[in-house]
Amino acid sequence: MGQPTPSRLRRFWVVSTILVSLLAYYMYIPLPADISDPWKLMLLDATFRSAQQLSHLIQYVGLSHHLLALNFIIVSFGRKSAWSSTNVQITDTNFDGVEVRVFEGFPKTKEPLKSGVLYIHGGGWALASARISYYDELCSAMAEELNAVIVSVEYRLVPKVHFPEQLYDIDRAARYFLQPEVLEKYSVDPARIAISGDSAGGNLAAALGQEFSKDATLRNKIKLQALIYPVLQALDFNTPSYQQNANSPILPRHVMVRYWIDYLKGNQDFVQAMLVNNHTSSDMEVAATLRARLNWLSLLPKSITKNYRPVMKKVGNSQIIQELPQLLDARSAPLIADQEVLQNLPKTYILTCEHDVLRDDGIMYVKRLESAGVEVTHDHFKDAFHGCMIFTSWPTNFSVGVRTRDSYIKWLKQNL
Ligand SMILES: *[C@@H]1O[C@H](CO)[C@@H](O)[C@H](O)[C@H]1NC(C)=O
Ligand SMILES: *[C@@H]1O[C@H](CO)[C@@H](O)[C@H](O)[C@H]1NC(C)=O
Repeated sequence: MGQPTPSRLRRFWVVSTILVSLLAYYMYIPLPADISDPWKLMLLDATFRSAQQLSHLIQYVGLSHHLLALNFIIVSFGRKSAWSSTNVQITDTNFDGVEVRVFEGFPKTKEPLKSGVLYIHGGGWALASARISYYDELCSAMAEELNAVIVSVEYRLVPKVHFPEQLYDIDRAARYFLQPEVLEKYSVDPARIAISGDSAGGNLAAALGQEFSKDATLRNKIKLQALIYPVLQALDFNTPSYQQNANSPILPRHVMVRYWIDYLKGNQDFVQAMLVNNHTSSDMEVAATLRARLNWLSLLPKSITKNYRPVMKKVGNSQIIQELPQLLDARSAPLIADQEVLQNLPKTYILTCEHDVLRDDGIMYVKRLESAGVEVTHDHFKDAFHGCMIFTSWPTNFSVGVRTRDSYIKWLKQNL
């Protein structure tokens, strides 16, 4: 090895500069000025995007479905086995055949009775697990701070199962948990039980809440529902928040539409048409009627709608609803439920993030529930992005992650 010649040095710098610029270009996404910890968010988003691209590559070469590959990556990095401390005992078991991870706060104490929360993790009905560190930490913190028993449901995911199987898993686990002898075994007070979930888990929690509210024998068994940036409808992908955050980190609009299509076992060729609301044009009677239930010009305040315009085509693509009638089913899209179903729902907490395509799904549900006479607490975070509540520990710790989690747990503490 001789001295590096000036030309070799120059080549080194040119190549390094190109690599760094490419990396910066790949990582850089324009972010709103007020978003929490922007550099960290860019890094998180770039990591998640790389994992998504790698998964698509794996599918392309024929090794596996991209969602299976992506979930394999997520779960291998984040898996945590059941552990226990003096304050929380964690057990993996099953409730009527559905796998669950149970977190018991202060396990040695039988008195006073504990509260109970059925928790449903997010991940587009396709990703994540009750057993990854993010959800494990959230649920153990809840168990400890609330002196509660948290049942985190390991429901089956896309592409193994599709709508409504995920909901059936949740429903089975919930009914099993609500049996008097099971509650007694876990020292849970039957009058203090909540259902809760984030993102797609918020969708499943909201759907379960509605199923139970239709049944007079189950209606009074749930004291509260707490929905964290829930997915609530698939009829309008051009609400102000979908328009404003079409390219926002973690959950860009086209990715959300793809999760929907996979959940309903539809054809991904519909994505482009659905992005411009061609699946719910005014010539399709049922779709147009249901879209009236999410008429955001009347449901949302001017501070949210700003100058955004509704996207409603006169003629669209009726084939989409013909092939995917589940789009019009309130069990997949709880926001479109009848008023009579809503009015029997329990006291509700809804958390929304400003920089999230799903913001307006949540705010419209707040309004519809209030009109139905349900008591609702709406907690909105100006600097928050979709998914933030699970990002509370290093290296993916965000100040807004800690604030949203604290606010959520505080509400449960005061109301459960
Ligand atoms: C949406 O429907 C319109 C007709 O109203 C059609 O011209 C357009 O190509 C469709 N767009 C997509 C992406 O399918
Ligand atoms: C994340 O955690 C590290 C180490 O505990 C801490 O120094 C840093 O301030 C935290 N950042 C945020 C945004 O909370």
